[in-house]
Amino acid sequence: MIPSVTLTNIEQELGHLVVIISKFSHLPAGIFSTAEKKYMKEQVENLHQQIVSFNRLSYFVWVYFIKEEKDISKRLEATRKAGDQIAGTLNAQKAKRVAIFDAENDGDITLALAEGMALGCYQFLKYKKDRENENTLENIEIYSKVLEEEGDNTSKLNILLEAVCFCRDLVNEPNSFLTATLFAKEVEKMAEGSGVTTEVLDFEKIAALKMGGLLGVNQGSFEPPTFTILEWKPAGAINVKPVVFVGKGVVYDTGGMNLKPGDSMLTMKHDMAGAAAVAATIIAIAKANIPVHVVGLMPATDNRPGERALVSGDVITIHNGTTVEVLNTDAEGRLILADALSYAKNFNPELVIDLATLTGAAVRAIGKFGAAAMQSNAREALESLKSSGYHVYERLVEFPMWDEYGDQIKSDLADLKNLGPPEAGMITAGKFLEKFTSYPYIHLDIAGPAFNEKRDSYRALGGTGYGVRLLFEFVRRFVEGERVNG
Ligand code: BES
Ligand code: MN
Ligand code: ZN
Repeated sequence: MIPSVTLTNIEQELGHLVVIISKFSHLPAGIFSTAEKKYMKEQVENLHQQIVSFNRLSYFVWVYFIKEEKDISKRLEATRKAGDQIAGTLNAQKAKRVAIFDAENDGDITLALAEGMALGCYQFLKYKKDRENENTLENIEIYSKVLEEEGDNTSKLNILLEAVCFCRDLVNEPNSFLTATLFAKEVEKMAEGSGVTTEVLDFEKIAALKMGGLLGVNQGSFEPPTFTILEWKPAGAINVKPVVFVGKGVVYDTGGMNLKPGDSMLTMKHDMAGAAAVAATIIAIAKANIPVHVVGLMPATDNRPGERALVSGDVITIHNGTTVEVLNTDAEGRLILADALSYAKNFNPELVIDLATLTGAAVRAIGKFGAAAMQSNAREALESLKSSGYHVYERLVEFPMWDEYGDQIKSDLADLKNLGPPEAGMITAGKFLEKFTSYPYIHLDIAGPAFNEKRDSYRALGGTGYGVRLLFEFVRRFVEGERVNG
């Protein structure tokens, strides 16, 4: 469990406290002695500290100085990280609650501090008997005039935080638990009571729909595939045509017959991070009652080299009739996504965005600090997504969809092949997917930022939840009028 964030308007009895300010003159009266203020000044002005802590024996007081930084996004990110750092000390002290005093009257900064604190408390302990190091923080209480006036911001934040953690949990679950069937079940369970309608296509339905990509990848597995469909269609939706999110749900990627060598298979339980982010986001949008019609499509299977597994040179037929020569069974994500992107047409979408841990090439190109993005007929939407990403620090960088890359995945034997040349692998993968779209489309290759092998501040160890805060922010802006078509 991560802590929940609430507003408080009463002065609490003494306990752990964080004071947010930007200038010494804004320090609230009655908390600090003259000596403490002097010490604080020295820490901030001479030693360039942003967080100054005072150990009051039974509790701590921190003063967080908002970074002098013109770029608001960077200021928010520094604040989230400060929140994580403070939460670390609180948990080490076995603290259960902390108060944040917004002496600056800056709601965004205050919520960012709480966000970093809460997300920094995330742990995946399901398989641990020893709970010695379990985090203790349960409540983050905010005292802020401006947030008090604004209304229900904390309930939206709590919904979002819960969604990020749900996504992380799914990603961290090993394949020994999380089969395609269990993925669908966990999503259905989470969606209960949210107003989201759920439908899970089983093997027979997938076969009847001729989803040859998903069926092909699944051939080497002893577990059946699933195709989960989520829909949130509120009465007052601002859009007539839905926004459709598609997520790659490879619950484990061995590479298939093109078995992954060496250590490259170690983290492949996270190859469903796109599907997890889509599920978590749609459920959060519904729980927050955001008036937008959204659909989520999550094809899921593991990719294994079982007896009936695809072999190099096999030809499969995607849902829309396109034939694909499978030259590498480890390029499986694009095969199951092709079915889903083709299926998305049924919804007559205004925009489709897919999230997929698709290529090592994306990781090599930009590392883990963002996603590789491509668009076709969705220029404005991608600009909005970029600035949303910068705001929540789930950044993305655009790559081109030039025709020449598309020529590189033409096959002599079939319509397409699933393997391009060694260069620009994330782009040829994106071009492959584009072939199955007929609507404004954005592709996000999240292979870099979806998973951390080492803890990275509030982004945690293991699943990061990348995509949930990004899409939630994008949809929030979409509703507020940043129209996205064209
Ligand atoms: N799931 C992997 C991509 C991946 C790599 C995700 C590293 C996260 C971290 C994907 O299915 C894959 O194996 N891609 C191949 C494609 C290649 C065979 C064209 C790759 O990138 O090597
Ligand atoms: Mn693969
Ligand atoms: Zn994969």
